[in-house]
Amino acid sequence: MMYRIAWMPGDGIGAEVMEAAKIVLDRLELEAEYAPADIGWEFWRTEGNPLPERTIEILKTCNCGLFGAITSKPNEEAAKELAPELQGKGLSYRSPIVRLRQHFDLYTNLRPCKAYPGNPLNYRDDVDLIVFRENTEGLYSGVEFHPLPDEVRSVLKKNNPAMARFDNVADNEIAVSLRVITRPGARRIIKKAFEYARDYGYPTVTLVEKPNVLRETSGLMRREAASVATEFPSIELWETNIDAQMMWLLKNPNDYGVMVTSNMFGDILSDLSAQLVGGLGFASSGNIGDEFAVFEPTHGSAPKYTGQYKVNPTAMLLAVKLMLDWLGERDKAEALDAGIAEVIQAGEVRTYDMGGDSLTLEMAQAVADRL
Ligand code: NAI
Ligand code: MG
Repeated sequence: MMYRIAWMPGDGIGAEVMEAAKIVLDRLELEAEYAPADIGWEFWRTEGNPLPERTIEILKTCNCGLFGAITSKPNEEAAKELAPELQGKGLSYRSPIVRLRQHFDLYTNLRPCKAYPGNPLNYRDDVDLIVFRENTEGLYSGVEFHPLPDEVRSVLKKNNPAMARFDNVADNEIAVSLRVITRPGARRIIKKAFEYARDYGYPTVTLVEKPNVLRETSGLMRREAASVATEFPSIELWETNIDAQMMWLLKNPNDYGVMVTSNMFGDILSDLSAQLVGGLGFASSGNIGDEFAVFEPTHGSAPKYTGQYKVNPTAMLLAVKLMLDWLGERDKAEALDAGIAEVIQAGEVRTYDMGGDSLTLEMAQAVADRL
């Protein structure tokens, strides 16, 4: 089967790690055509849109996408960098990767964090965690207010007495971000976590929330988790609080396997988990919907290293592995995983973060040579 894969290097080291990905994909002889698609800072500056409509159109013709990294900046800074003719038009910067997730309803953010033996950056060698982070709602829904419109304030106050505490705060001195969690949204991500545990042999799924404080949103997650769990009698449902889970993961990371949580908690949980297995150079993620998916390393464009070809390509190669898995190319995914593991174990080719001085493409080539 000939795949069509959207090719989105983005900015900075994004382009460099995508070159690394290509070396490995060519070596694996994946039958695919790669459709280049524009995304990132350059298109914000020159067109006022870091995710041009033509990119969305290209993505619609593809099986999935591979994404490098982008640069993003806070709103005010972003506005200043716009081309002169685009200034003052009220354009506001929104992260293209968040938009992609929402546009294509890529509701699962899958973040595996497995320690490769021999990696000097491992916190411990026995860590094998998989975070299922809800990717489209929660605190990152984008429903935010500042200043707080009177209508919103009065509706909130009418429906919840807790709001009265803020009566004396001026509209422009209060900002509100809504943590929106829907029952179908909660259910589908929890279900994906359980299915993964079943398919890959994990005995537990841990729901990581904060229901004692976030009674409504985390409470809804809890109820759905309990209900989904009844469909998977062989898998045990555990529940922990997000704050305590940070401590447990440092103390006993090997107690856990599949974890599932809402958007912002998942953002935090997955960064901690990634650090346990070597940090940004090893952290990949899949943004997965029912029919489309985008795979990426979780690091950004690392301006400090741009142009030097020295960052670790492993995160990107692990994103490729996730993509191969999702496409159903299990053999190629496993071969790639084994190749990465061998190179890390052998320790001859290492990028700067691992204490070596090999370059990005040298490390990719070393992996390719073992496939
Ligand atoms: P970053 O992830 O780009 O880099 C932070 C530091 O992590 C680097 O200076 C480097 O020391 C290390 N690092 C990152 N990737 C590495 C790799 N592959 N190998 C070895 N070391 C690596 O985060 P930063 O500097 O906070 O943000 C830079 C830009 O990237 C910003 O504009 C930010 O908004 C954007 N960003 C984009 C993301 C994305 O595209 N998904 C995610 C995070 C940040
Ligand atoms: Mg993050």
